[in-house]
Amino acid sequence: GASSAFSNNDFLECLTLQFQKSNSESDSIYTPKNASYSSILQSSIRNLRPASNSTQRPIVIITPEHESQIQAAIYCSKKHGIQLKVRSGGHDFEGLSFVSETPFVLVDMRNLRSISIDTDKKTAWVQTGAALGELYYTIANKSRTLAFPAGVCPTVGIGGQFSGGGYGMMSRKHGLAADNIIDAKLIDANGRILDRESMGEDLFWAIRGGGGTSFGIVVAFKLKLVVVPEIVTVFNVTRTLEQNATHLVHRWQYIADKVEDDLMLRLFLTSFNSSITGQRTVGANFRSLYLGRVHDLLPKMREIFPELRVVKEDCIEMSWIESELHFNNLPGESLDILLDESVFSSAYTKGKSDYVRQPISKHGLKRIWEFLIEEGEGNAELQFSPYGGRIGEISESEIPFPHRSGNIFMIEYSVFWSAEENTESERHINWIRRLHSFMARYVSKSPRAAYVNYRDLDNGRNNIYRSTSYKQASVWGFRYFKNNFRRLVQVKTKVDPTNFFRNEQSIPPVSPW
Ligand code: FDA
Repeated sequence: GASSAFSNNDFLECLTLQFQKSNSESDSIYTPKNASYSSILQSSIRNLRPASNSTQRPIVIITPEHESQIQAAIYCSKKHGIQLKVRSGGHDFEGLSFVSETPFVLVDMRNLRSISIDTDKKTAWVQTGAALGELYYTIANKSRTLAFPAGVCPTVGIGGQFSGGGYGMMSRKHGLAADNIIDAKLIDANGRILDRESMGEDLFWAIRGGGGTSFGIVVAFKLKLVVVPEIVTVFNVTRTLEQNATHLVHRWQYIADKVEDDLMLRLFLTSFNSSITGQRTVGANFRSLYLGRVHDLLPKMREIFPELRVVKEDCIEMSWIESELHFNNLPGESLDILLDESVFSSAYTKGKSDYVRQPISKHGLKRIWEFLIEEGEGNAELQFSPYGGRIGEISESEIPFPHRSGNIFMIEYSVFWSAEENTESERHINWIRRLHSFMARYVSKSPRAAYVNYRDLDNGRNNIYRSTSYKQASVWGFRYFKNNFRRLVQVKTKVDPTNFFRNEQSIPPVSPW
């Protein structure tokens, strides 16, 4: 309506004035009238589903190059009561960084992406607008034996992923990305720029796993790098139902979290049409990283998992950074591809997660295969990601990410469809909801745990115009954070009592009235 057009203009005026005060150029402000507005908005969107259901587009996109511009955005957004959202890599499963139910402004961190590595101290400062691939590339450029344990996909943003945990191929050896953060630079709701010392240990605790958005805008994280061998070994073997997949996956559940932490045996399950039988089948793809040489790996595999029959020909020795290409199905590409943000195309997707604490029976696995076969070739994938090792050694309350000892593996469920199929989106979404509800009997209970980085609004959401009660937010809060949710609410209430930083699933402050 007319009144919102007025407040939009007021906001823009405010922003322009603030930018002038700090002598910064206004060319990092985009309104829908700018020719490049749409391409900037679209560029980092990987999941097309959330935007296709949303009517709101940002009133303004700000791509700050200086902290003062973030401070200006916060100041004006507060003054004019317009919601602010922040985006780093844009990979949020529910699009919470770029869609909203109310008018909003978008602070897009893309221009704040510098990375500086100190090889002697084995630390790095990385700005949150950088993507994982850039971080890995930059580390590997400086050293063949330093690395960082975070996710696999190179286009995921530092800002979102490290704020919620960050699981990857070295997590059993070194923990999550958030376990390896040693300092941060954050801008709070009052526009203050804080580091670990000035924000204090409560707030520093909250931003390492409490999920993006709730506590402020993180500009940079300081990381403790980890040491990797110059040569690591990968293997990638697939077994179909006809090749005993049910037995192998069943067996895998008894070893995946217990093997030595140098070994990550990640498992991907999909259905496809067999080229041999022509029938639809399920493939269990064991994708593995061993932080050592092949001649040490093979005897170990024969001892712990002889049924898988891994042979030398299945294994490839390479550097850690080359394994990053391997796990993204980009073998033989130049390392520069890790800097290419358009390397993967976008799709319509819906994801969910679970934690498994007792092995799933063979009967249960067979029902899962039926679900995959029903959904069809290439449309769905289940990732089984092993826990144990370093992840399980860290206490549940060390950082907000609580999924520690006692978990065998995490499940990520995903379903994909194309633009042409979007008329049938409900069918795909129902499929994943049915599978998830079937799985209740096999997974963690009270609460049924979930990973905040696999964001799922089926777990509930905040009210749009009224405040959200502790009880209401507890539904997703305890799933994502278990008992840490209480402390997250306390920190939020202390540092942002007016709930300036919010989204559909942010941590609410407890209102004293
Ligand atoms: P995005 O920019 O969408 O931000 C996510 C959330 O954090 C939003 O709420 C946003 O407002 C907030 N936020 C972003 N930047 C912020 C900042 N600077 N300060 C404060 N808040 C900020 N996870 C994993 O652990 N291991 C994995 O291997 C993978 N792999 C993977 C592959 C693919 C293709 C996708 C789409 C996702 C994953 N993930 C994952 C999940 C991923 O970790 C999760 O989606 C992250 O939140 C994405 O971070 P982005 O910065 O890209 O997202």
